[in-house]
Amino acid sequence: MHVDLLIEHATELATCASPNGPKRGPAMDDVGIIHDGAVAIHKGRIVAVGPTREVREKVTGATRVINAQGHSVVPGFVDPHTHVVWAGERAAEFEMRLKGATYLEILQAGGGILRTVRDTRAASLDDLILQTRERLDRMLLAGTTTAEAKSGYGLDEETELKMLDAIRALDESHPMDLIPTFLGAHAIPPEYRDNVDAYVDFLVEEMIPKVAALQYRVEESDEAGNLVYAGYQRAAWFCDVFCERGAFNLEQTIRILRAAKAAGMDLKVHVDEFEPSLGAVPVAVEMGAVSVDHLVSTPEEHLRILAQSDTAAVGLPGTPFGLAEREYTKGRKIVDMGGILAIATDINPGTSWCESMPMMMALATRYMGLTPAEALNAATINAAYAIKMHPYVGSIEVGKQGDLLLLDVPDYRHLAYRYGSNLVHTVVKKGRVVVEDHRLVEGP
Ligand code: NIG
Ligand code: FE
Repeated sequence: MHVDLLIEHATELATCASPNGPKRGPAMDDVGIIHDGAVAIHKGRIVAVGPTREVREKVTGATRVINAQGHSVVPGFVDPHTHVVWAGERAAEFEMRLKGATYLEILQAGGGILRTVRDTRAASLDDLILQTRERLDRMLLAGTTTAEAKSGYGLDEETELKMLDAIRALDESHPMDLIPTFLGAHAIPPEYRDNVDAYVDFLVEEMIPKVAALQYRVEESDEAGNLVYAGYQRAAWFCDVFCERGAFNLEQTIRILRAAKAAGMDLKVHVDEFEPSLGAVPVAVEMGAVSVDHLVSTPEEHLRILAQSDTAAVGLPGTPFGLAEREYTKGRKIVDMGGILAIATDINPGTSWCESMPMMMALATRYMGLTPAEALNAATINAAYAIKMHPYVGSIEVGKQGDLLLLDVPDYRHLAYRYGSNLVHTVVKKGRVVVEDHRLVEGP
């Protein structure tokens, strides 16, 4: 067989393979290492994986061969929780927090998320795309090849749709794949400050049915310009709610989730970021949410319910770190209870402006109690599961997209061991080299 790309002689190939879905329990501590490993990619898909000698028996020729000797090869990272689309910045609030103001106080005073809402409403679509693209480039350089992206800095119809438009335009024009989430319930818009239920009515009766039905046409051509794929893609796969004091209470959260489910959307929930939200986790699990995220102050009995379900637990260690708080998601406990644990950056201008999944692995090993292997699985195969992308990405397995990384080092554990510098040397997305020697490769 002749292939487009052959990567061979990887000192170590960490496949994170998990053919039957996400990893739980002891399987989390195994990243499926192959020594002197090789991967063959054709038409964007992985067609062979194994020891170089075995892959070489199947592959008779390759358009491009990369010798990965001296490198550890790992799957492209999946970042399953991001607020990467926004305009402006909040350095002044960071300083206010360092001087003692709390995150929820700043929000209640009309700052925080609402500050970014003002800036995002004022930005043109082009400007929003331009500002976001810079962050996507940094994410790609740090090895993220697929990311979820939320709306939620509009809180009005026009701006929420503008954000979803930006996500779609960036998904089409940037090498990274973006999975869109509608987060109209991110904060109480200033217009509804004294009547939160009326905003929930608006979300439930107008926005959710509209967003759930919104689709756009996607076309893909091959190098000769022939149409190889045409179809329709939903403008938002998931509906998410920020369930917290000062945002949406449990009753409002339930109304929003029910409406989204009825409209055919999959569910995600921001739960227990600061205070236990009196039952959001069991409710989300009962409703079949794909993931529940944050889980910093979740009581143990709710973690047990979660661990016994198919709902993913997404830890966001950049957030307590970014807010200089002491409590982190109890990752160790979730893994030991048999739950499906993933990690994400939560990249946003308030609590965690960090483009790097390796930084999340560094934090997760120290503050969530994970081993380097568990952190890598949480950032790849289980992160893919948390956005329903595990049949396509998140591990180096035959049939999946050719998304992988060559590290500067021959041992994946350095991803978590070291921090603050980027060890991602080469990024391959759908079989195309998009980062080489730490630099973006210009597209075709
Ligand atoms: O996940 N909790 C709500 N949303 C973000 C913060 C967004 C912001 O501060 O702009 C989070 O931490
Ligand atoms: Fe978030």
